[in-house]
Amino acid sequence: MTAKGQFITFEGTEGVGKSTQLANAAETLRNLGVEVLVTREPGGTPMAEAIRELLLAPRDEPVHEITELLLMFAARAQHLHTRILPALNAGQWVLCDRFTDATFAYQGGGRGVPEDRIALLENLVQGDVRPDHVIVLDAPVDTGMARARRRGELDRFEQEDLDFFQRIRNVYLARAMAQPSRYHMVDAARPLAQVSGHVSGLLRQWVSGSEVL
Ligand code: TMP
Repeated sequence: MTAKGQFITFEGTEGVGKSTQLANAAETLRNLGVEVLVTREPGGTPMAEAIRELLLAPRDEPVHEITELLLMFAARAQHLHTRILPALNAGQWVLCDRFTDATFAYQGGGRGVPEDRIALLENLVQGDVRPDHVIVLDAPVDTGMARARRRGELDRFEQEDLDFFQRIRNVYLARAMAQPSRYHMVDAARPLAQVSGHVSGLLRQWVSGSEVL
């Protein structure tokens, strides 16, 4: 029987270098002989990507926080059940750019949706599926936002103020502190090579502790 793959998610506020780290992480794992699926949330399937567009487009109409929350979980249900779980069951390791921790951080910390409502949907959509490891790339919100702004047009989330992102960062820090065995804080304010070195060190450790080799 194929060993189940590991489910690893990458989290953080805007502009902390998630995409670069995710690409490096995929390369590290592939070099170690691990089959990898790289994906993202919201998104990861054609339908979930269509929901992503709905969520990210700036619009004049105010978006209710429950609408936003349900769309996040609608995209997640489709992505998790049709893409992530089949890959894990086939022995692939899944590297996902954001997952439910982002919902606790953005919709919970950012928008103020009570945690228990998010947990309710988490259980409905995911059952007992949780990431094996969550890599939290952490940097002061002003440096990250400056980087995000340099990338060009801002999406509906990036248009929020620094306070919004500070609340998000606080939720990530609190969640990481509460479960240090599953959450891995990575100081993303350091030079890129150091951040990548830290992340690949973690991955090597998980690969050598698993049955893939
Ligand atoms: P990205 O820019 O990292 O691709 O993520 C898209 C945006 O969606 C980002 O601003 C964070 C936000 N988001 C949430 O608000 N809740 C979620 O559950 C997820 C997965 C993302």
